[in-house]
Amino acid sequence: MSADIKRIAVLTSGGDAPGMNAAVRAVVRTASSLDLHVYGIRRGYEGMIDGDIFRLERRDVGNIIHRGGTILKTARSERFKSKAGRKAAYESLLAHDIDAVVAIGGNGTFTGATKFEKEYDIPFIGIPGTIDNDLYGTDFTIGFDTSVNTAIEAMDRIRDTADSHNRLFFVEVMGRNSGFIALNTAIGSGAESVLIPEVEMPVERLVELLRKSAKRNKLFSMVVVAEGNKTGGASEIAAKVKGQLDMFDIKVAIIGHLQRGGAPSSADRVLASRLGHSAVLALVEGKKNLMVGIENYKISFTPFEQAISMAKPINEDLLRMAETLAI
Ligand code: F6P
Repeated sequence: MSADIKRIAVLTSGGDAPGMNAAVRAVVRTASSLDLHVYGIRRGYEGMIDGDIFRLERRDVGNIIHRGGTILKTARSERFKSKAGRKAAYESLLAHDIDAVVAIGGNGTFTGATKFEKEYDIPFIGIPGTIDNDLYGTDFTIGFDTSVNTAIEAMDRIRDTADSHNRLFFVEVMGRNSGFIALNTAIGSGAESVLIPEVEMPVERLVELLRKSAKRNKLFSMVVVAEGNKTGGASEIAAKVKGQLDMFDIKVAIIGHLQRGGAPSSADRVLASRLGHSAVLALVEGKKNLMVGIENYKISFTPFEQAISMAKPINEDLLRMAETLAI
């Protein structure tokens, strides 16, 4: 065990994700079991800059494993992007005698951590917490499973009404730059098609596909559209196909932030517990500036630089499979 680390701070940053609380709980309880002191930082890097840092004891994280959101609050910090902001954050950590930080978040969080690591010598371990699942170095990020479950539940409800009225629904799910949520939602809900940022689907092809399925007596259809789809979100796609699919009454549904809330699924609770636990063990073993992830069910570590810069490709076989199964 590293003798240097006695006081660990934990924060959540970027978009919240169901399961973040379970990760905070795991960090606090693991650290406490090793007689380390834990401090919570409110509102991510914003609270680090402002010195909004408070003691977290074992009992403070009781009764949160099942709760969505984050008890630590979160923010996307503009100030941490500047040298002056990071200097203020460093000074706050020094003022509270913090030896190491566990940062739970996504791309923006680890981009901030990479900059900080080059300027100051306070070890960081990152835990991937984002519904988007868009980080290299982990098969799953905390919140992804829950958000897909939520989107699928919404799709099941839309299916009932789409079926009753013979309608074509374009349903938009989150995913600014990635189609993981959209693809899994489409497979799990039996959607007709899926549009994602990684693979361009020309509108003409989509129209042809939907015409064919109408000919096969499919009287209603659902198409999942990722928010970041290059040819447009659900409303834009609906506008583009207007007049070309007269057999359907076309509707749009945007699931939006509904996908970010709610109780974490069992998969997210277990994942968050494992990652939180491993993050603390990693710090006391002297590891730093790495993201802890899960690959093939095993804990792995990836440098922040790689986690944010390397592409995590979509599984194109799954995309093809989704099309086959929709016939
Ligand atoms: O990064 C997660 C995410 O939920 C994206 O899918 C989405 O584009 C974005 O956050 C929305 O962020 P905000 O709630 O800050 O608008």
